[in-house]
Order: sequence, then structure tokens, then C-alpha cells
Amino acid sequence: MRLPIAFALVLACAASAGVAQAATGDEVIAAQKCNKCHTAKTTKKGPSFADVAAKYKGDAAASASLFKGLKAGGKMGDEDDHKKLEVSDDEIRAVVAVVLASK
Ligand code: HEC
Repeated sequence: MRLPIAFALVLACAASAGVAQAATGDEVIAAQKCNKCHTAKTTKKGPSFADVAAKYKGDAAASASLFKGLKAGGKMGDEDDHKKLEVSDDEIRAVVAVVLASK
């Protein structure tokens, strides 16, 4: 009788779908290893997020342009081949909010 196995699979999928809810900006940054090149305060290979926030301070278009840059990857600032963020749009927005709130 195969039904119980199918039922267990459905339950397992439902359980993992529950876990895969949207991550916070900080979680995405950690999971995507942005910290290899950026930290909140220290300049590494890339600028600190505080420097990015300072650069865009008062720029109303900043979130939209950072969102676009992170979603598409490629050219960002002086970096020609920037890492692309392959997560949901909401999660990219959360990351941009964390970056722009850094100081
Ligand atoms: C391999 C190193 C590296 C990784 C990994 C990396 N970045 Fe960058 N990032 C850079 C460099 C270099 C720049 C360009 C700095 C400049 O403009 O001079 C940059 C620029 C940026 C900028 C500023 C763009 C601008 O318009 O000034 C943001 C925001 C950013 N990165 C976010 C992220 C996020 C979020 C992640 C994780 C998904 C990430 N980066 C992963 C190296 C990296």
C-alpha cells in the first residue's frame, strides 16, 4: 500500500515550504556571503555598507537603483562583474534596506 508514503511526502513538502519563508536582509547577506567583500563598517574588497549608505544619503532613487543592481548583477559602482542576488524581490528589498540603514 503506497498511500502512506505519498502522504508522508506531502507532509514533508508542506513542512519545508514553511521553513522557506522570506529571510531577513541580514540573513540573506549572511547566506549569500556578501560579507566576503562587504561588512557594515569595514572596507574590504567592496565598500562598507555604511560607506554605501553615506554615498546615497538623500538620494531618493538609491533603493531603486541598488535593487536593480543587485537583482541584475554585473556593473555596480566601479565593480564590473558584481554578484547577482538570486533571491525573491522582497528579500532583495530587505537587503537594500539593511545596506542603506548601515552607519
Ligand atoms: C567578490 C566581492 C564582492 C561580493 C561577494 C559582493 N560584493 Fe558588493 N561590491 C563589491 C565591489 C568591488 C563593489 C564596487 C565598489 C565601488 O563602487 O567602487 C561593490 C558594490 C556594492 C554596492 C554599492 C553599489 C553602488 O552603487 O555603489 C552594494 C550595495 C553591494 N556591493 C552590495 C552587495 C551585496 C548585498 C552582496 C551580497 C549579495 C555583495 N555586494 C557581494 C564586491 C563584492
